[in-house]
Amino acid sequence: SGVERLGDMIAEAKVIVPFTGAGISTECGIPDFRSPGGIWTRYRPIDFGEFIASQSARDESWRRRFAMEEVFAAAKPGRGHRALASLYRAGKVPAVITQNIDNLHQASGFAGEHVIELHGNTTYARCIGCGQAYPLDWVKRRFDAAGAAPNCTGCDEPVKTATISFGQMMPDDEMQRATALSQACDLFIAIGSSLVVWPAAGFPMMAKNAGARLVIINREPTEQDDIADLVIRHDIGETLGPFVGN
Ligand code: OAD
Ligand code: ZN
Repeated sequence: SGVERLGDMIAEAKVIVPFTGAGISTECGIPDFRSPGGIWTRYRPIDFGEFIASQSARDESWRRRFAMEEVFAAAKPGRGHRALASLYRAGKVPAVITQNIDNLHQASGFAGEHVIELHGNTTYARCIGCGQAYPLDWVKRRFDAAGAAPNCTGCDEPVKTATISFGQMMPDDEMQRATALSQACDLFIAIGSSLVVWPAAGFPMMAKNAGARLVIINREPTEQDDIADLVIRHDIGETLGPFVGN
């Protein structure tokens, strides 16, 4: 079966790089983007240009974020996160590349510097001018007091979740580290991503082109199934549960 084949490939590999999308966190209660009920089936994305240009777009963006707070705050790592953390502790996985913003790889035991967050992190905020970090509860207090999304106390530019929006520059350091890892591994496992958002979706292909075996685990078909060595079209928790170790 697919899971046995995956077990063999994991056993044979020296350097495994996992690449994760929203599908690894759905069993933790966090909706993905493109499945029925997903974020982009409910909301239109607010792109970076709009966020900068419009106070009402910033207010709406923060209202959406506050509405999700109970979900993010309650979420615990799932079987997928825990399986990857086991392989990390075993020395098989040097780091995880993720499109997720939910902090669950860190919560599962990855050191912060070994989680390459291509799309940032939604558990804190940053000024888009000077980069000053702010806790979300600071933003919430200011928002509630003023009835509007706050600006930085230092430079007066807008404060945004520390995530990457459409239209926003990708983080340089993360892109470089993800590139190096993709080219250095012998097994690359894409987990729970539709692989439609670029440049993130370029990494599975990059790893394959550099000689790694490519495994794709996703309930739905993805854009890159045809170049994969193994496609497991099945639930992530069920598939990776057997790899949860100590
Ligand atoms: P998507 O919602 O596009 O894809 C998630 C995939 O996971 C879907 O194909 C689901 O079928 C699959 N899935 C969900 N739960 C699963 C489960 N339990 N088992 C197996 N498969 C499951 O999410 P991403 O690919 O992560 O970026 O989205 C990529 C980017 O688009 C996000 O990082 C975000 C979004 O716009 C930005 O906002 C910049
Ligand atoms: Zn600032």
